[in-house]
Amino acid sequence: MSRFIDELKRTHRCGELRTADIGKEVVLFGWVARRRDHGGCIFIDLRDRTGVTQIVFDVSYAGAIQSELQKVGGGEVKPEQVAEAHAAAEKARSEWVIGVRGLVKSREGNVNEKIDTGAIEVWVAEATVFNRAETPPFEIADDIETREEIRLQYRYLDLRRAPLQRALRMRHEVNRATRNYLSDQGCLELETPFLVKYTPGGARNFLVPSRVSAGKFYALAESPQLYKQLFMVAGFDRYFQIVKCFRDEDLRIDRQPEFTQIDVELSFVNQDDVFRLIEGLVFTIWKAALGIDLTKLYPSGRFPQMPFAESMARFGNDKPDLRFGIEHVDLTDLIIEQGGGGVPFWVEIAEKYRSGKLRRDVPAEIVKGLVIPASANLSRQQTEELERGLRDVKGFRGLARAKLAEDGSWTQSPLSKSITPELRQKLNEALGAKPGDILCFQFGKTDVVHTVMAKLRVDVAKKIGLIPEYGHGDQWRFLWVTNPPLFEYDEETGRWAAAHHAFTRPIDEHVPLLESDPARVECYRYDLVLNGFEIGGGSIRLHDPDVQARVFKTLGIDERDARDKFGFLLDALRSGAPPHGGIALGMDRLSMLLSGAPTLRDVIPFPKTNQGTDQMTGAPVAVDAAQLAELRVKTVVDEPRPAGAASATGAGSAGA
Ligand code: AMO
Repeated sequence: MSRFIDELKRTHRCGELRTADIGKEVVLFGWVARRRDHGGCIFIDLRDRTGVTQIVFDVSYAGAIQSELQKVGGGEVKPEQVAEAHAAAEKARSEWVIGVRGLVKSREGNVNEKIDTGAIEVWVAEATVFNRAETPPFEIADDIETREEIRLQYRYLDLRRAPLQRALRMRHEVNRATRNYLSDQGCLELETPFLVKYTPGGARNFLVPSRVSAGKFYALAESPQLYKQLFMVAGFDRYFQIVKCFRDEDLRIDRQPEFTQIDVELSFVNQDDVFRLIEGLVFTIWKAALGIDLTKLYPSGRFPQMPFAESMARFGNDKPDLRFGIEHVDLTDLIIEQGGGGVPFWVEIAEKYRSGKLRRDVPAEIVKGLVIPASANLSRQQTEELERGLRDVKGFRGLARAKLAEDGSWTQSPLSKSITPELRQKLNEALGAKPGDILCFQFGKTDVVHTVMAKLRVDVAKKIGLIPEYGHGDQWRFLWVTNPPLFEYDEETGRWAAAHHAFTRPIDEHVPLLESDPARVECYRYDLVLNGFEIGGGSIRLHDPDVQARVFKTLGIDERDARDKFGFLLDALRSGAPPHGGIALGMDRLSMLLSGAPTLRDVIPFPKTNQGTDQMTGAPVAVDAAQLAELRVKTVVDEPRPAGAASATGAGSAGA
């Protein structure tokens, strides 16, 4: 019977030993990361979540270990145990789980600079094999080429790799720092239900059939939004929760169907109070996770703010990456003033504004320009590649381009034939263009123009190397984007819809416009942006029932509709709701950016694939007919599996 675990307790983890430990007796447990057999002498790199230690099995060391351990009052060293350990090491293979007792020795003259424990090694006096392992389907190493599907299928092995271990450890630090900070700020960590009522609008919900109320469905909460507001009504004053949210959306590198929010709601606050609390949290998280003091970048302790409209105008979206310059220039006014300057499409747009068909204060069509500096030295082929990269944007019809010559004329451009010299000169000036620069134009529907130009801006920056690599340069560029429109016009239904949700407070000066000019109503909503990603979003809520009723009216929601959808919240807001507001930070996105990972999947222990499936368990799977019958649910896509058939992966009801 092995003495390990019962008698021999672990003294250190595999990444901990240093030169100060030389001469000590230690007990280590871990996984065989690498084994080198030199006959009499076998080296194993023993790994756990903290790192690796080189351990050495050599029968001829028995006497030396014995005499050194005696000096420090260590345990007995029996030559037969050293021999047994050596025999075990001969058999051991990658990923076997072993325990060793031994002596820490210096590796002077043979130090491995690449690992933290590289100055020492452990000479083994006694060892045990806790468990063997089958040969893993891929090597457990930092940099591997293995396809992601395979890594996800064997996620428990993938998770043994140092980059993932680091990322999850960082998540732990973020969680801990968040809990401590928000608790210190007087927030209570309170829970909210996952099984909630389905409400239309917002993100698409996952539905969960109820067995007890057969034929009826819960929704999985897309966020704790309504419940956290109820906490405020109930007088809890300040709330937070690190909480899972579920959304059945199309997935992207920064979207998962289940993800984690740091969710916050506060009573008696304005927008600036929310900002201050969250700025403090972000500073705390950066310190805890990376040891970075953000006050060096933001000496006032505050992040910059930019109105939504300005962000759209300068960058084409509400999550600009501020790590590089390159901005859009809105040329619409100039084009209108010049009557389109001879360019047929522009003449059309100018005419629409002149005739009053389009309004300048809510522009449905615009013209934007962007300059690729001559210093980028892009070839014509490279510029065409950039254009090809834009083809996936819905509505994209091509990029108008021109190269500015020394004399102010344009080359390499079909525009140069029709444009008036006057407009050309004014555009050169408006864009601040210099000879050799490439001018890019996009015109037409506002949404499309913004999306195309926003993508172009980032693609250009990537192509000409303006984005610093992770860990280099001034790379934490935070921004609050504030005051977006409360409503957006839905062309399909011909109605106004809530741009975020129906309980966002319009900014005070715009309340009179609710009925007369909804397009111009801005609201107290804000997003926190970091390096081109939206890492958080929230709003000050609408707690005034009268204004609420007017917002619903603009949205075309009548009293009965409103009661049907949000009856309980409306009742609650009429029961003494304090002014309140909040925010949710996307924990996965924060972790992704903090660790420099390319996708959310690299910072979530058991993520879904881009198709929303679980590569390891095979979820989602069809269930058997009896289960469906019990739930009174019929599927129309696939035939239900016959009763009694095993589930697709044999994972059974692990999710229950
Ligand atoms: P919102 O929908 O903006 O706000 O979400 C807040 C933050 O959550 C992150 N996020 C996601 N992360 C990964 N995968 C997803 N599918 C995903 N969707 C959102 C983003 C986002 O900024 N209840 C409101 C908050 C509030 O108003 O207080 C809400 O959920 O980083």
